Amino acid sequence: MTCGSFSVMAAVKQAPLLALLVVAGEVLSFPLVQETQPATSCGYESCHVTKPNMLNVHLVPHTHDDVGWLKTVDQYYYGDRNDIQHAGVQYILDSVVDQLLKNPDRRFIYVETAFFYRWWRQQSSSMQQTVKQLVNEGRLEFVNGGWCMSDEATTHYSAVIDQMTLGLRFLNDTFGACGRPRVAWHIDPFGHAREHASMFAQMGYDGFFFGRLDYQDRTHRMVQREQELLWRASDSLTPPMADLFTGILPNGYNPPEGFCWDQLCHDAPIRDDPHLEDYNVDDVVKRFLVIANSQAKVYKTNHIIMTMGSDFQYENANLWYKNLDKLIHYVNAQQANGSKVNVLYSTPSCYLQELHRANLTWTLKRDDFFPYADNAHDFWTGYFTSRPALKRYERISNSNLQICKQLEVLAGRASREGPYRGADSDTMKEAMAVAQHHDAVSGTEKQHVANDYARRLADGWQHCQLLISNSLGALTGVFGKQNYCDHLNISVCPPTELFKKFLVGVYNPLARPVTWPLRLPVNGTAYTVSDVRGKAVPCQVVPVSRATQELRRNRGFAVNELVFEVQAPPLGYTTYSVSLVLDGPPLASVRHRTPTVIQNKFLQVTFDPDTGLLSSLSNLETKQSIKLTQNFYWYNASDGRNVESHQASGAYIFRPNSSTPFIISKTAKTGSIQTSVVQEVRQWFAPWVSQVVRLYADSRALELEWTVGPLPIDDHLGKEVITRLDTSIQTSGVFYTDSNGREVLQRRKDFRPTWNLNQTEPIAGNYYPINSRAFIKDDMDQLTVVTDRSQGGGSIHNGSLEIMLHRRLLYDDNRGVGEPLNETSDIFPEGLVVRGRLLLSLERPSAAADRHRPLAEQEVLQPLLTFSEGDLRPGVKFEFSGLQAALPPAVHLLTLSQWDKDSVLLRLEHQFQSRESKVNSQPVTISLQKLFSSLDVLGVSELNLSANQWKEEMKRFDWTPDEEEKTVLKTLQVPSEWEVTLKPMEIRTFLLKVRLV
Ligand SMILES: *[C@@H]1O[C@H](CO)[C@@H](O)[C@H](O)[C@H]1NC(C)=O
Ligand SMILES: [Zn+2]
Repeated sequence: MTCGSFSVMAAVKQAPLLALLVVAGEVLSFPLVQETQPATSCGYESCHVTKPNMLNVHLVPHTHDDVGWLKTVDQYYYGDRNDIQHAGVQYILDSVVDQLLKNPDRRFIYVETAFFYRWWRQQSSSMQQTVKQLVNEGRLEFVNGGWCMSDEATTHYSAVIDQMTLGLRFLNDTFGACGRPRVAWHIDPFGHAREHASMFAQMGYDGFFFGRLDYQDRTHRMVQREQELLWRASDSLTPPMADLFTGILPNGYNPPEGFCWDQLCHDAPIRDDPHLEDYNVDDVVKRFLVIANSQAKVYKTNHIIMTMGSDFQYENANLWYKNLDKLIHYVNAQQANGSKVNVLYSTPSCYLQELHRANLTWTLKRDDFFPYADNAHDFWTGYFTSRPALKRYERISNSNLQICKQLEVLAGRASREGPYRGADSDTMKEAMAVAQHHDAVSGTEKQHVANDYARRLADGWQHCQLLISNSLGALTGVFGKQNYCDHLNISVCPPTELFKKFLVGVYNPLARPVTWPLRLPVNGTAYTVSDVRGKAVPCQVVPVSRATQELRRNRGFAVNELVFEVQAPPLGYTTYSVSLVLDGPPLASVRHRTPTVIQNKFLQVTFDPDTGLLSSLSNLETKQSIKLTQNFYWYNASDGRNVESHQASGAYIFRPNSSTPFIISKTAKTGSIQTSVVQEVRQWFAPWVSQVVRLYADSRALELEWTVGPLPIDDHLGKEVITRLDTSIQTSGVFYTDSNGREVLQRRKDFRPTWNLNQTEPIAGNYYPINSRAFIKDDMDQLTVVTDRSQGGGSIHNGSLEIMLHRRLLYDDNRGVGEPLNETSDIFPEGLVVRGRLLLSLERPSAAADRHRPLAEQEVLQPLLTFSEGDLRPGVKFEFSGLQAALPPAVHLLTLSQWDKDSVLLRLEHQFQSRESKVNSQPVTISLQKLFSSLDVLGVSELNLSANQWKEEMKRFDWTPDEEEKTVLKTLQVPSEWEVTLKPMEIRTFLLKVRLV
């Protein structure tokens, strides 16, 4: 999406007026072809020549095609619902190809593979041949090339890597090397994450371009000529591994003012026949030279770039190209009169090549581009939390997809060819890839489009369930009916509610054994639970809370929950059997009195008996203790009727009307349950806010399960609900957030590392994306909060951390979506209710990563549960592990996915940063041959991160930072081709030839 106009030119000095001579005969017959050698190949060799002694203006024809926003991805593809927005991608591609064929000098870049793939499948083979030719000659060039242009604040790195892999694989399979994008292109995302830059570097991109950054940052960089820079995107990886050349585009991604020639625009065409009325060539050329010369003043080289296109443009590409042909001709014709401006058709990679040839040094950037503000009161920090239910659904869908892909590998062909028809992982892969788009998981789409994203994920999950049933059947030896319960978070699961004897299958997608608490809805009073070896497992029956009963409405009727802890082998499966012993009401009852303390062997949690709120948290092992109060508040969303600015809070923008949030209730009504398996305090704050503070027997983390909604709006006030943790930790304005679920960045209140901030929004201007965790610390204590989805948050007061949980807004925020963020559904017509959880851990700062890294890993990849009636019996393999042994704690198995008939894609990740852990921030070596228990590895080759290039062929431009510190590259011994060493934060990608044993 594009929003508003960008006026970012520095003070424009008048360029010298050039005399324009036009001879009538020449005008009518001018050759619209640049003087260049015919393009012989794709990539950098196909770039037009430039003039070293002139200002070269690279015109980049492009279209920005959102993979869903105001319309669904398929509506955009077909050009359906043009009453909502005139946009049809199929016509864009038809028209562009047609126009490229008319003049070999013309160039076009295409970005979103989700659309290109739809179009490609519908073309005749002769059209496909024609397009291949255009690609081979570099006339049609793919940039970025992922399935979509991902959001950068709310996406998790594993889903981003997957969606890039999907898109880039299609391009390589279809076009080979000429289909490989050289640059990353994120012209629209609303702020830029350092982890994205790190990933792009490791995917082999030579450079990265984007359009949006904070307006103060932009001004500063224009003055300093630092709109092009070298981003050092990792604290851990050895440079230049995560170095990415980054360019900030001059007009967002729009053409300069007055030069938009699309059918969606209203600028005057070039009228070049002096015999006709309104001849305007002199005026057009003059205006263009003024703009080009002023743009050149804020960039470093004698090359500048202009994006000639915008949202869904080029549906009638003739309009653009006819005028661009003329623009190039008439501006360059002035060179005969001494003009020093040379205009050419170009692409971002051709522009990048010229910057590289300039051989300059570039300023080094180590932080990120969050938060993004386009004006004093316009901080795009609301979307960090917008649509919290969709954000959670996307996150759990990622977990489900990884499990689906793993089991496809572990069971081989049987997973797709088993008795359950329609099994595949592709539907889910595409649904997840679409969901990464910057108007999808970000929450900035229209309601009907959000519904479409969710429907695609649900459909993908259906296909995966069939695949998983086939796989588990093949791996256990019995194809019984597997039930999946997707509503356990509201205590709904028909098989566990009905069956008197049932089996619970637990599949663990992590490469190490995991203990996991289960809560199953049941109707009996007493049960026995035993593990696969028949050993009794401690369990407890507790009543379903009132909050849960209200939340699930008539979707389920279980009165109790059966709670027990399960353990599953690494990348493996085990089975628990459950039998009903006694019907009737539960034995453990809720006490309506606040206990002053709940505790297990690791943690002690105290409550204030007067308020019912948390009052302290202690780690019993390390003997540390902090004061901790936690409560819920809401900010009154600005409605835009306001003296300083008319900006309202909306899907994108967070703009509270006051810096002081309203407290929802000073006290909580409480009830508690204390058993040997679980201890919980149930807190009730208001009809629309409740929470369970929960501590399982073997957990080192405290769980805060919050339920928020429907946010009341009968007072006509939009509300943005936060929870705030106030502690005795001395933070002096500093807190920490992760970037896309990986490396952690330090955040300082009212401060930006690269410019002198004028803070104009004391709350919204201090909000950052919290993707998987945030923490506050001092010398003694670190409190880490692991989240179950992306959220926004900040540390506004010393010792405090706040996280935004839910938002409901009554006004549109004027960034194009055209709807207030006011979510309702069939089940919740009065407003959406959202439930989620935060996991708290308290550790010494030096050991905190040893806890929060695995905790976040477990939160992102959750065990899959299946349910079936009956009991354990001989002849069935009720337990298996896909690995020969658990991987060390530092190693995360990021990807295991079938690639083709006899090869699989494997990604191994070192999940610790350097220096964050004494034990785990060390290189680790893994043997690929001894990895799997059910797969023989016959061969191995290493790929780049996005799996579209062999590692040894990946050669990137090298760039020189202006503050060079020489890093000594320590080459580690390569033990053998089967041994893989991972250094902190490294991800290595392999294609393994395998055979099922
Ligand atoms: C890309 O495609 C080419 C041509 O089909 C193929 O030879 C090559 O192996 C592919 N590269 C990767 C990394 O898969
Ligand atoms: Zn967009």
